[in-house]
Amino acid sequence: MINQIKQLKSKALEQINQIKNKADLDKVWRQYLGRQNGKLTKLLRGLKDLSVKEKPKVGSLANQVKQEINQAIDIKRQELFSSGSKVKSETLDFTLPGKKVELGHLHPLTQGKQMAADIFLSMGFEILEGPEFETDYYNFEALNIPKGHPSRDMWDTFYIKSKKGELLRTHTSPMQIRVMEKKKPPLKVCVIGKCFRHEATDASHEHTFYHIEGFVVDEEISVANLIYTLKTFLNALFKTEVKIRVRPSYFPFTEPSFEVDFACLNCGGKGCPVCSQTGWVEILGAGMIHPEVFKQAGYIKEKYTGFAFGIGLDRLIMMKHKIDDIRLLHSSDLRFIRQF
Ligand code: PHE
Repeated sequence: MINQIKQLKSKALEQINQIKNKADLDKVWRQYLGRQNGKLTKLLRGLKDLSVKEKPKVGSLANQVKQEINQAIDIKRQELFSSGSKVKSETLDFTLPGKKVELGHLHPLTQGKQMAADIFLSMGFEILEGPEFETDYYNFEALNIPKGHPSRDMWDTFYIKSKKGELLRTHTSPMQIRVMEKKKPPLKVCVIGKCFRHEATDASHEHTFYHIEGFVVDEEISVANLIYTLKTFLNALFKTEVKIRVRPSYFPFTEPSFEVDFACLNCGGKGCPVCSQTGWVEILGAGMIHPEVFKQAGYIKEKYTGFAFGIGLDRLIMMKHKIDDIRLLHSSDLRFIRQF
C-alpha cells in the first residue's frame, strides 16, 4: 500500500506540473482528492482494513501526500493567475467603478408620524404605542360603547373568531384606558398608530390608516386647553397660521364632543375636490373625557378632568402635500412615493 501511495503521488505531481488551465486543475483535484471517487480518498478509505501496526504508518504517509498534492495545486493555481495572457479573463479589475447603491427615503406617512411625534414631544407629551390587535373591551366597552350600542356601526371593523373577541382596533382611543389603568394624573400622552375599519374605500376613505391620539388628564383641564393644543400642533405642522372651526359632535367617550375642521389649504377655503367643495376639511374628533371612562380606568369620581382628540394622520399628510386620493398612500407605487 505504501508503494501504491508513493506512485500515486508522483503521478499526481507530474500531472499537476503539466497543467495549463484552471479547469484541468480542478479536474486533477477531483481525480485524486475528490470526496466520492478521488484515488487517494479511496485508498484512505481502505485504511480501516490494515493491521494495528501498519495503520499509523500508512495513515500518516497518506495524509502527508494529500497535503503535498493540495500544495502543488495551490502553487500551480497562483502561477496560472499571475502568468498573464491565458488566464487574464479570470483576473479582477479593481479599478472598475462599483455598482451604485440606490438610497431610499422614508414614506410620506412615516415622515408625518415623525414630525407629529416631534411636535408633541416638544409640547411635553410622552409618546406611547399600543396594540393594533385589540380586545372588544378596550376598543369599545371601556370607552362607554357597550354591546349593541348603535354607535358601534361607526367603528365597524375586522373581527377575529376567538373567545376574547379580539379585533383590529378602529381607533387609538383604547390607549386612553390602557394608560389610565397604569398611571395616575397628571397625564400628557400621544399615541400614533395604525387603525383599521370595515370601509368601502374611496378617495378619502381607507380600511387602514393612522390616528394621532392625544389626551391630557389633570385637575381643571378645560376645552380652552384642548383648542389651544390643537391649534399649536396644526400651526407647527403646516408652518403657517391654520384656520380651524369647532363643531359640536358625539362620541360615547367624550362629553361634550367636537369635530374640528380646518380651512382647506388646497384651495384656501374657496372649495375644491379635496374639501368636497365646502372649503373645510374634517380632520379630527375630540372632546372632554367622559366620567364613565374615568370610572372604567378606576379613577376617583370627579377628581380629574381631561381632554382627548384623535387626528387622522393620513388626511393631514394629504393636505400637506396636496394629495387628492388617500389610496395612493398605501399603493406602493414608486412613481408616487419618489415625489416626497
Ligand atoms: N377615536 C375617535 C374616532 O375614531 C376620535 C376621538 C378621539 C374622539 C378622542 C374624541 C376623543 O373617530
